[in-house]
Amino acid sequence: MTTSSSERGVSLGMPELPAPAYPDDVRTRLETDAREIIARYPDSRSALLPLLHLVQSEEGHVTRTGMQFCADVLHLTTAEVTAVATFYTMYRRRPSGDYQVGVCTNTLCAVMGGDAIFESLQEHLGVGNGGTTEDGKVTLEHIECNAACDFAPVVMVNWEFFDNQTPASAKRLVDDLIEGRPVEPTRGAPLCTFKETARILAGFPDERPGAVEASGGAGPASLVGLRLARGEAAPARVVHPRDGGPHDEPQDRAVHHPSPAEHLSSHDAPQDTSASDPAHPAGPTAEEGE
Ligand code: FES
Repeated sequence: MTTSSSERGVSLGMPELPAPAYPDDVRTRLETDAREIIARYPDSRSALLPLLHLVQSEEGHVTRTGMQFCADVLHLTTAEVTAVATFYTMYRRRPSGDYQVGVCTNTLCAVMGGDAIFESLQEHLGVGNGGTTEDGKVTLEHIECNAACDFAPVVMVNWEFFDNQTPASAKRLVDDLIEGRPVEPTRGAPLCTFKETARILAGFPDERPGAVEASGGAGPASLVGLRLARGEAAPARVVHPRDGGPHDEPQDRAVHHPSPAEHLSSHDAPQDTSASDPAHPAGPTAEEGE
């Protein structure tokens, strides 16, 4: 006796229906924007990345409709567009919140507290990695290194930096976002919603007063090495010690114990290494079997 594929729980992979079209007024508006973007490139297909940001700014994530739109205006196949949209993590593939809260859990941030921050936010928000709060305000995810290791542990909201975070400060941050209280990144442009951010990333100017000027350059901690190389004295302290901030809770203050050899930033503390740690002296490492 044979069993059918449905009885075996096997999907026959029915082809998806065509992506639904944008409403006419939306498509007309997006086509105008797309023409402006495409005109910046000698080869139209080079406009695919900003166009994916553009369609993401429309719906908050890259939908099949958005990918079909990109394929149409760039004369690409949907397979080509899909291949790009699924490669880059900055493109969302499913609906999510107004604020994408990314906790860096790469090596340096992880050891400086990123793992603890991510764990406490999961518990605080009641969502896992990639999950969105029920009110649609916050999507939590762990992210890879954002080249801000000198401000570790780093949290990013819609790609704006929140440096030197603690579990308590990160929880306050998401509470403020959910309650609609104003939130200011540590450096760079003021915060805006994910859709607004996507439109800026598509290449349209940030019209908010002072936003462009606020984009700024490297922060003080990033410049210490340069100052030392120039023979300048490094500042006594580059960032606020994480235990001394005005908002930290008592449990966070207990984490860090400044020593007389206070360091330049919260992560410049001298660490025991194999060369300095008497419990783990340096020495040749024998291969197994030697
Ligand atoms: S490891 Fe977190 S910013 Fe580099």
